[in-house]
This record gives sequence, structure tokens and C-alpha cells, in this order.
Amino acid sequence: MKDIIIMGIESSCDETSVAIVKNGREILSNVINSQIKIHEQFGGVVPEIASRCHTEVINQVMKEALKEANIGIDDIDAVAVTQGPGLVGALLVGVSYAKGLSYVTNKPLIAVNHIEGHIAGNYLTYKELKPPFLCLIISGGHSHLVKVKDYNEFEILGKTRDDAIGEAFDKVARVIDLGYPGGPKVDKLAKEGTPNIKLPITHFDNYDFSFSGIKTAIINLHHKNPDINKADLCASFEQTVTEMLLNNVKKAVQEFNEDKVVLAGGVSRNSYIRNAFDVFSKETGVNVYYPEPVLCTDNAAMIAAQGYYNYINGERADLKLNAVPNLKIRG
Ligand code: KG4
Ligand code: ZN
Repeated sequence: MKDIIIMGIESSCDETSVAIVKNGREILSNVINSQIKIHEQFGGVVPEIASRCHTEVINQVMKEALKEANIGIDDIDAVAVTQGPGLVGALLVGVSYAKGLSYVTNKPLIAVNHIEGHIAGNYLTYKELKPPFLCLIISGGHSHLVKVKDYNEFEILGKTRDDAIGEAFDKVARVIDLGYPGGPKVDKLAKEGTPNIKLPITHFDNYDFSFSGIKTAIINLHHKNPDINKADLCASFEQTVTEMLLNNVKKAVQEFNEDKVVLAGGVSRNSYIRNAFDVFSKETGVNVYYPEPVLCTDNAAMIAAQGYYNYINGERADLKLNAVPNLKIRG
């Protein structure tokens, strides 16, 4: 069978990325231009600045992706782009660019849901991984527990009722002056601490999550006692949110008799969470998967991987494609 080469384009937040992926599984290039250094000084992503930065670099990033993959634009079979969810101005840069590219090259245009892309990041790390599986998507904007029934078929079991888990990581870091983005900094500092601070755990009858209670508890603790041990606070935070994640995953594994649990999204880079899921895997025999670190946070290879499965499913977008900032995962 002929190889299918997909170009992926991602610009939903603060990373401009273009990747070339073969048959949905093999990365030929994955160029990521991060704006972290620019947004750092503001303590978070500034949407207007993000859009402008995407516009400035996207063409160069695309050229680098082709060069690194050692192919020309004529060698690709389709252009896949993140349609949403994300920041509307940032998404529009990628969507408009992809439409232009599709038009001038006469290659099909494929719309990709960013959250589905995060799931597909795993197909690049584990060549043998196939649906069905249970997936926990934990990122800066999302916290979902999803049944991945097929490459293009999903069922949301639960999601956060308030903050995403990554937002909570970033907020905790901000409160204790660790800087932005907070997740990796909390991860590092937690290693020096002991989880000896009791924090609230949220339970629901279904598979939903809530992280605003623990976030507020940490703000209050720090407010009352600015000299509180930051490392212990980070360690306690990680332990408590991990317990919340594992509670829902264990419940779903039992109810649906799942034997594969897949993690996805920026927060799945977290070393404490990875370790806790490894322990869970050893104890239960359930296979646990998580993408290699660079494929956890935003990147275009994951968009190209999901784009491949949309492509072979016959899905095509046209030049009317618009960015959808609150795009939902397909049910
Ligand atoms: O998936 P992602 O790049 O963007 C979204 O789609 O939201 O996730 C970014 C989030 C940020 O909140 C960041 O702090 C978090 O992932 N993150 C981490 C770690 N690395 C990134 N959170 C905890 N531990 C980490 N090591
Ligand atoms: Zn993301």
C-alpha cells in the first residue's frame, strides 16, 4: 500500500508547530516554535500576542518541517490543521494558513480536534496501540475521561466541572511564585517535598472531576501562612490530584472491564502522575500508556497522526473551514 504523508499544523495556544507524519505513526519531522519565553513575563498566555507570534513564524516553521523531513510540498497527501478548541485568534492563524496551503497545492484539507490530537500522540509513541481503550486527557485546558471506541469514535465518560487540571497546576505555581508555565516547576519542586498537607478531594457519582476546590484550598493555605513549605505543598497537591484521577480511572476500568489506560495532554508529562499510573499498572495488570514528553504538550505531529485517521476515514474540510474555539470531542 502506498505511504500516506500528512502535514500537521497546530496553533491553538502558544506553540506554532508543523509536522510531517507517515501513515499516522512515523514522525518525519515535528518542528515546534514555543512562545513560552515571550508569555513568561506576563505570567500566562496573552492571546493577542500569541496570534501575532503565530503569524510571524508559521511560514518558516512549515519550511523547516519539510526540510527536516527531507521532502517537498508535492510529496504530502493532505494538510491537517487544528480547528479547535483553543484561542480563537491563535487557531485562525493555523486554519487560514492551512486553507491557503491546501488551495495553492491542491491537496485535501483535514480538520482535526485538538483534544483528539492529544489522544493520537500515543499512536506515535506506541506503534502497536489500537483502540478501544480508556483515555485520560489532562492538559492546560481539558480534563476528560474518554472511551476511545475507534480512531474516530469517542464517548466522554466525565470531564471537569470547573478548572482543568493544568490550570490548577499553573495557578498553584503562580501563588507560590514559581512562574509560568507552572506544571513543570511544581513537578520539580514536589520531588523535594513530603505530601504531609491534607487537601480536599472531590468525588462525584459519575466520572466528572473538579479542581477548583483544591486550588482555592492552596491559595488560602498560602495566604494564611506565606512561609508554608512550598515543596511540601507541591508534593501534597500532586498526591491529591493524582488520587482524584486514579479514583475515576479505577472505577471506569472496573465498570467497563478495560485493560488499556492511555494518558494524554501536557499534564501527562508529570513524573508523579506517571509513576502513580505505573504502580497502578503493576498492581492490576492493566496496561498503561503515555506519550514521550514532547508529544504530551502541544505539537503538530499529534495533529498529523489524528489527521491521518480522519483522512483514511474519508473526512475532508473545504475552504469554508472556520476555527471553533470551544469545539467538542466527537461523541
Ligand atoms: O497539552 P498542553 O500543552 O496544552 C493544552 O492543550 O492545554 O498542556 C499544557 C499544560 C500546562 O498547564 C502545563 O503547566 C502542563 O500542561 N504541564 C505539566 C507538566 N508539563 C506541562 N503539568 C504538570 N507536570 C508537568 N511536568
Ligand atoms: Zn493541548
